[in-house]
Parts: sequence; C-alpha cells; structure tokens
Amino acid sequence: MENNNIKVAILGLGTVGSGVYKLLTQQSEDFIWKVGSKLEISKVLVNNINKQRSLAVDKEILTDKWQEIIDDPEIKIIIEVMGGIEPAKSYILQALKVGKHVVTANKDLLAQYGKELFDTANSQASDLAFEASVAGGIPIIRPLKQCLAGNKIEEILGIINGTTNYILTQMTYGQVSFESALQEAQRLGYAEADPTSDVEGYDAARKLAILASLAFQSRVTLQDVYIEGISNLTLADITYARELGYVVKLIAVAKHSEEGIEARVHPMFIPYTHPLASVNDSFNAVFVKGNAVGEAMFYGRGAGELPTASAILGDVIDVARNIVNNCTGRIACTCFYQSNHKNIGEINTKYYLRLQVKDKPGVLASIAGVFGNHDVSLATVIQKHRNENMAEIVVITDYVKEKHMNDALQIIRGLSIVAEVSAQIRVYSND
Ligand SMILES: NC(=O)c1ccc[n+]([C@@H]2O[C@H](COP(=O)([O-])OP(=O)(O)OC[C@H]3O[C@@H](n4cnc5c(N)ncnc54)[C@H](OP(=O)(O)O)[C@@H]3O)[C@@H](O)[C@H]2O)c1
Repeated sequence: MENNNIKVAILGLGTVGSGVYKLLTQQSEDFIWKVGSKLEISKVLVNNINKQRSLAVDKEILTDKWQEIIDDPEIKIIIEVMGGIEPAKSYILQALKVGKHVVTANKDLLAQYGKELFDTANSQASDLAFEASVAGGIPIIRPLKQCLAGNKIEEILGIINGTTNYILTQMTYGQVSFESALQEAQRLGYAEADPTSDVEGYDAARKLAILASLAFQSRVTLQDVYIEGISNLTLADITYARELGYVVKLIAVAKHSEEGIEARVHPMFIPYTHPLASVNDSFNAVFVKGNAVGEAMFYGRGAGELPTASAILGDVIDVARNIVNNCTGRIACTCFYQSNHKNIGEINTKYYLRLQVKDKPGVLASIAGVFGNHDVSLATVIQKHRNENMAEIVVITDYVKEKHMNDALQIIRGLSIVAEVSAQIRVYSND
C-alpha cells in the first residue's frame, strides 16, 4: 500500500487549512477505502514557520518554502487554502503546469482569474476543483456541474454571505440597528474587523460570479456583477417588510434570458412563504431553478473550519479517485458560450419605496401621476401621518424596468412636496 500513497500538500494552515489537516489525519483509514489509496500529507506550507499553533503538526512536514513542494514530483495534489491573489495564483498555475492537481477554496482568485486557471488546467488534463469556494460546506459546485447537468438553469437565488445574513437576522428578530448587529457579529467572530467585503456585498458577488459561470456555461467575472450592500438598511424598512409579509435578505441573483445574463447582489424583500425567508443567522442557502428539476434548495453552513474542510475533502477524494482510475481532467471548464450581460437598467423587478412627503391633499395623486407616466404601477400603498406637516408613503410596485423606475424617482425627488426618497429596495416575486 505504501508505494501507492497519493501525496498531498496543504498551502495554508489557518482556519480552513487546520480543518483539512484534522480530517486528513483523523479519518485517514476511511479515506483509504473511499479512494483505494492512502492520502498522505507530504508538506504544509505556512507564512511564518515559527508561529505558535494550537494544532500539533509534525515539524518535518511544515515548511515556508514553496520550492520544496513544486519541485517534489511525488506530490500529486495541492490544496490551496492560503487565500488572496498572490502568491496563490502563481503557485496554482505553476502546479497545474507541471501536472499536479489543485483543490482550492479561493473565491477571490476564481472570480477574477478563473479563465486563466481553468485554461491551464484543461491544457494539462489536470483537475482544478473548487467546491469550498462558494457557500463553504454546502455542495453546490458539483451539483451544478454534474447532478444538474441535464438541466437548463434559469435562475439562482443565493444567501451566500453568512455575516450579512447574521446581521439581517438580528435586525429582523432582535429589532436592533445595523451598527449594533454588526458589532455583535464582530464580537462573535462572524464579521472581520474591516467588514467592508461582507457588508458591501463584494464577498457574495465573487461567489455569484462563480455560480453564474457554472449555471449558464458562460464566463461571469466580478466586474460583471452589480453590487449593493446592506449598510444603508434601516430598522424602519425591516419593520415595514414584516408588516407587508416579507423579510429583507442580501440576495445574490443570477438569471438567464434571451437578452443575456443578469448577475446582481443587493438587499431584497423576500416573501415569508419563500424557502429563503427562513434561512437565518449565519446559515447559507442556494435556490436553483432548472427547466427539468424545477426548484431545488441547498442549505447549510457557509463557512467555518470543518464545514469548509468538508467541501475540500470531497474534492480531494474526487481528485484522488480520478488519479487512481487514470481519468483526471474528466470534467473540464464548462464555459462553452459567450453570452451577453444585461445592464442593471434593463432588469425587470418589483420595488419597495419609502418616501417622506408634505402632509397635504393631492400629494399622493401627484406622485402616482409621475409613476404612471413612467410605466410604474402601484400594487400596495400605505400612507402614515408623521407629524403635523409630514407624512410617510410606502409603496410596493408591480414589475417595472429599473431604468424607468430611476427616471420616475429622479422627477419625484425634484417635486417640492417630496422631502426625501428614504428607501428603494427590490422585491422578489415569482409571478
Ligand atoms: N474561513 C472560512 O470559513 C472560509 C470559508 C470558505 C472559503 N474560505 C477561503 O479559504 C481560504 C483560506 O481562508 P482561512 O480563513 O483559512 O485563512 P487564514 O485563517 O487567514 O489562513 C491563511 C493561512 O495561509 C498561510 N499563508 C498566507 N499567506 C501565505 C504565503 N504567502 N505563503 C505561505 N503561507 C501563507 C497563513 O500562514 P501563517 O499561519 O503562517 O500565518 C495561514 O496559515 C481563503 O481563500 C478563503 O476565502 C474560507
């Protein structure tokens, strides 16, 4: 058996790397049966070899020298869990070019440089697996590439950032402000000291670029995704959402129609009855609509040491099985098409709007008139008296093109009877 060992190297021994190391060492006997060969950790690459670590790792295999890994022809699988663009990108490309296989969790890298990496893997018939890059422990990459390959995917809706979902859950059910919920998320380790990437939607956008590329077989990069975060959301809007039968979630939307692909991340009103409405705290979910399967939802832990390591090990075992069966590079890059990308102004959606207006007769009629001139029909209107001079108008519209809505709002903002458009949030509807 010893000669048939499949040697692996782990790049990074942080949160995810530690989980991978633990699973590979603690369940090594199981993996022999699952793969047909032993998975042996040859090297673990770290930045600072002298760092105190709570995980006991054999000193012989710990290194800070990439050359020891790339120059070792015995190492067949590289597990990249160091993160960032460089040197991760160069290491992965070098590894693929010498015929090694790569498993990575690096969404930042894939969302930006996916094409270059997959082209290199294809040219060498090497495997480049990335299940952990989207939604942590939830299987979604393999389902899209394999289990659902018989479908035309029409739509993906995802809650794919645990930090923002935790914050929104606190705001909804704890009735706390965005700032308080963020502080609590930071205290619990769900949010980083600099939370920009999560709360402004960039993390979800990177994952959406990967999902949309797989779903529609056409390359979608981070630059193609329209992004709005949750930092401007107020308790007033969360409360109105509940009153109207919705919850507010940060949703990653990917759709494919004849006009092209739309990929966007923004806060959205989700009807209470939709399965995504009950995805709370730091949990993630991806809701997929296919022409054959209909609706399917994938739910679970979107991050964390062992959930993410679970996805990595699934990939490592898959790649190892391919090595044992001499069939690596079997499922190459699936971006066969070059579809158009739809501009955000062209999307059709419903809206929730909240406006501060003068409290006097005829105000509602004037606003409704502007909407009517721009093809915006109003499905729900609530008017609340605020004080002796001001009122608040809350509206849910029917479907309208985003550019028509923005044109209407530009005129409405200029009306002397309107003090402020306080909120404009898209509303999900499947009718
Ligand atoms: N954390 C999660 O729950 C999660 C979930 C899904 C995907 N991911 C992805 O997984 C990857 C790793 O995340 P993580 O949270 O585990 O990161 P992390 O805790 O910050 O760990 C990074 C590790 O990489 C090592 N490293 C960094 N730069 C290096 C360099 N230039 N050369 C050698 N080693 C280097 C560090 O070495 P030292 O220990 O010496 O500092 C550390 O061990 C990222 O791509 C992330 O997006 C993470």
